[in-house]
Amino acid sequence: MTIELLWVVLITILTFGEANTRLKEVCNPSDLKGLTIFKSGIHVDTSGRLAKWVGGNCCNWEGISCDNRTGRVAEINLSAFISSDDSPFQAQMEGLFSSSITLLASLQVLDLGGLSGLSGTLPKSIGFHLPELRRLVLYGNNLSGAIPESIGKLSKLEELVLPENKFSGLLPSSLGGLKNLKRLSLYSNRLLGSMPDSFTNLTSLVYLDLHDNSLTGHIPQRIGQLQVLEELDLSSNFLAGNLPPSLANLTSISVMCLDTNYLEGPIPFPSSSAQMSSLRLLRLHTNHLTGKIPPTLEIWSPSKDFPYQITSLREQSPLALLILFNVSHNMIQGPLPSEMSSLQNIQALDLSFNLLSLTSIPKWLVELPSLSRIYLAGCGIQGNIPVFLRSTPSPIQELDLSANNLTGSIPTWLGVGSLAQLYLLNLSRNSLVSKIPYSVTNLHDLGVLDLHGNKLSGSMSRVFEIGQGFPDGSLTYLDLSDNKFSSGMEQIGVGAQRGIQLLNLSNNILHGRFPTSIERLKLLQSLDLSSNKLGFNLPEAVANLSMLETLKLEKNRFAGKIPNEFLKLRKLKQLDLSDNLLVGEIPVGKPLSDFPQSSYSGNRGLCGKPLPPCKPTWFG
Ligand SMILES: *[C@@H]1O[C@H](CO)[C@@H](O)[C@H](O)[C@H]1NC(C)=O
Ligand SMILES: *[C@@H]1O[C@H](CO)[C@@H](O)[C@H](O)[C@H]1NC(C)=O
Ligand SMILES: *[C@@H]1O[C@H](CO)[C@@H](O)[C@H](O)[C@H]1NC(C)=O
Ligand SMILES: *[C@@H]1O[C@H](CO)[C@@H](O)[C@H](O)[C@H]1NC(C)=O
Ligand SMILES: *[C@@H]1O[C@H](CO)[C@@H](O)[C@H](O)[C@H]1NC(C)=O
Ligand SMILES: *[C@@H]1O[C@H](CO)[C@@H](O)[C@H](O)[C@H]1NC(C)=O
Ligand SMILES: *[C@@H]1O[C@H](CO)[C@@H](O)[C@H](O)[C@H]1NC(C)=O
Ligand SMILES: *[C@@H]1O[C@H](CO)[C@@H](O)[C@H](O)[C@H]1NC(C)=O
Ligand SMILES: *[C@@H]1O[C@H](CO)[C@@H](O)[C@H](O)[C@H]1NC(C)=O
Ligand SMILES: *[C@@H]1O[C@H](CO)[C@@H](O)[C@H](O)[C@H]1NC(C)=O
Repeated sequence: MTIELLWVVLITILTFGEANTRLKEVCNPSDLKGLTIFKSGIHVDTSGRLAKWVGGNCCNWEGISCDNRTGRVAEINLSAFISSDDSPFQAQMEGLFSSSITLLASLQVLDLGGLSGLSGTLPKSIGFHLPELRRLVLYGNNLSGAIPESIGKLSKLEELVLPENKFSGLLPSSLGGLKNLKRLSLYSNRLLGSMPDSFTNLTSLVYLDLHDNSLTGHIPQRIGQLQVLEELDLSSNFLAGNLPPSLANLTSISVMCLDTNYLEGPIPFPSSSAQMSSLRLLRLHTNHLTGKIPPTLEIWSPSKDFPYQITSLREQSPLALLILFNVSHNMIQGPLPSEMSSLQNIQALDLSFNLLSLTSIPKWLVELPSLSRIYLAGCGIQGNIPVFLRSTPSPIQELDLSANNLTGSIPTWLGVGSLAQLYLLNLSRNSLVSKIPYSVTNLHDLGVLDLHGNKLSGSMSRVFEIGQGFPDGSLTYLDLSDNKFSSGMEQIGVGAQRGIQLLNLSNNILHGRFPTSIERLKLLQSLDLSSNKLGFNLPEAVANLSMLETLKLEKNRFAGKIPNEFLKLRKLKQLDLSDNLLVGEIPVGKPLSDFPQSSYSGNRGLCGKPLPPCKPTWFG
């Protein structure tokens, strides 16, 4: 075919095709205009998709799909997360989200998720122009302004997903009219005002997440009407008032997070087996809740005739699926109802800092078959650490009994039985005495050990031998401060634990030298040896701790000069060498000269910046 003939054919197609949408050479002019204006608002597109938006057939453009009957644009999906063959990639667009989007009258799906440089507002009239819209997905953008009231007109809307933007103003009460809405996600914005009562009309809602806003007022009393709701997250707002009793009526609820608000009054709990039977996560911590923990259920007292039904009945009981229960930092009173023993799947339980006055750890509690993370800080527990902790059904991974009134010594069975796999152990702020038992060296998995604020004594060296024979060790956090330890420092860095990031030995009665083996703790970020009786020179080896940000050595008997090598501690943000016996010129340069005078005060003879200049006689 000659070039001339090709042109004739082409022109013919164009001429006849223009009025003939079946040939799809040009998409609907209104759609084309809307998309072209949208494109012109974007000045950076690292995905390169918009650059290929040329010509008139917008249905073939990347990210656009048309309805194959009407030829109208039905879907725009320019999600930032593009998974090419092997490597996932987050695209970036910078520019303005244009209100021209309202020209695409048949739009059903709009997804611009993750494009963090996309600014602008939602068009006020969006609800009047996009009657077919089913999914509006704009998360992690830079959108601001109010969520328009007209959105309540989008009667086909199933997903409204606008989290991680800067939307402000009130929640439109018109949203309550969206009978088909399944997913409403507006978390991490700047929304104000209260949750409209109309939300209780959202009977198709499965997922409601409004956390991390500035919402005030009460939770709607009739929230229990949301019969298919599976996830409810209203945490980190300023919600006040009582928990509505109807919450217990949320029959499909699986995750409920109402923590970090100003909610008060008692916790409503299910009264029949049909209620809340799917609940897995319940977070109520950091509120002003009062009252007792109510019995979680009517107890199933299996009759003698049907003893074999116990198991199946238990499976049906409310809260049987709960795996996390966190009511820490409230004002809940004791005693704990023994009915809690039906929490057969509970893995993590946090009752810390309430008014529980437990006196002792209830035995039935640690016998819950799946429990592995136990937080009972500030629960008024007294006496010895009970021996039944070594034979729980599940190995305990996290145990926090801090801020109680525990007495006696740390048990010799600590690294044994169900306490052999501990990752976190917090026994701080009790009245424990005597030495650390040898059995702790069995705790190969220990990552966090906090024993501060007790009356422990003797050598601390066993702690540095934990997991002997295992490379590097897993311990990252070690706080033995505020005790009466007198020795054991020489094992630092020699023992198995070299991955320690925080080491606090302050306020003990440690004496002797600062061990140079400390330089083997390559990951150390915070070191506090203050208020001990350590002496001799400061070792140059400290300067090899290149990650060090905090160094507190005040109130000891360190003598001699500050080693010049300390100038290598480039990451140091906090330094305290005060109240020692140091002399000579403070090494000149960053970071040492930048600390306040108080970092160096109370020594025998330090001088130079930031202290007054050294007298010439110093350089005799
Ligand atoms: C139109 O789309 C529907 C659903 O997406 C599909 O099943 C059908 O095969 C398409 N028709 C044509 C002619 O492409
Ligand atoms: C948009 O495309 C992405 C990537 O293919 C996909 O994960 C996402 O579910 C789509 N969005 C919608 C609303 O269908
Ligand atoms: C986000 O939008 C604001 C205006 O609301 C603008 O000043 C800022 O530069 C935008 N940030 C980014 C990362 O685009
Ligand atoms: C819920 O919907 C009903 C019927 O559509 C309406 O009468 C009622 O006012 C709505 N409730 C709220 C709180 O908006
Ligand atoms: C829970 O639902 C039942 C049955 O629908 C109803 O009778 C009861 O009043 C509801 N309770 C609350 C507190 O809303
Ligand atoms: C309970 O919530 C508090 C406060 O946010 C948190 O510090 C704690 O880790 C949570 N407990 C558990 C077991 O997750
Ligand atoms: C241990 O418990 C105390 C008191 O409850 C708390 O202040 C401290 O942060 C906890 N330690 C760790 C490592 O979580
Ligand atoms: C701890 O227990 C001892 C002995 O029973 C008692 O004297 C003391 O007051 C208790 N301390 C606290 C803080 O409860
Ligand atoms: C070390 O522990 C003491 C006493 O418990 C505390 O006051 C100090 O802040 C801790 N040091 C660091 C660096 O956290
Ligand atoms: C500590 O640093 C010095 C030089 O600054 C170096 O010679 C020495 O080998 C380092 N020690 C370790 C254990 O890395």
